[in-house]
Amino acid sequence: MNFTEQNNETHQSINELVTSLIEEDRTKYNRIIRSFNLPISAFESYCSWSEESYTRNCIVENEKFQLILLCWGEGQKSPIHDHGGEECWVKFIQGEFKETIYKVNSSGELNTVKTFMAKTDDVSYMIDFMGCHCLENISAGKSMSLHLYAKPIHNCNLFDEKSGESVRKKLSYNTIPEEMTDLI
Ligand code: SIN
Repeated sequence: MNFTEQNNETHQSINELVTSLIEEDRTKYNRIIRSFNLPISAFESYCSWSEESYTRNCIVENEKFQLILLCWGEGQKSPIHDHGGEECWVKFIQGEFKETIYKVNSSGELNTVKTFMAKTDDVSYMIDFMGCHCLENISAGKSMSLHLYAKPIHNCNLFDEKSGESVRKKLSYNTIPEEMTDLI
């Protein structure tokens, strides 16, 4: 079965999604990420939660892309960040989120250019020329989002909302599948 030729099929596995991302070119990723429709239970084995912050749970990383499940406690928020020059798709798997998109103006300050209230199955896309963003779980409880980065992002810039100043941050995972531990 060719994953990318389907529209909103309900019982695909994460393996099928990963296979499709491996086989297809990056120009097909938008369609792939928008068209799959997996039950929440498909993500259970990748979930982890922390009271400190949202968690980053690697599903797969290779030289082409990273597929990461982010698990968010109520009210948890990401810092304002860019995407290391790569493309980023976020599919909202469970819950409701607020996405805020900023741009740095000519004085080096951050201006809010857009806010987006996302619900389950919505998809958001970012690349650095569009600006930087942050996400917040606004659900009354836990939520999950699936992030596809192409190529993988190992560092990004974090921005201070008031001053617009940025610092470089190395990104890490909270969990990695056993079969990936030697590869990352
Ligand atoms: C986000 O897009 O808000 C989260 C970024 C990440 O940790 O990969």
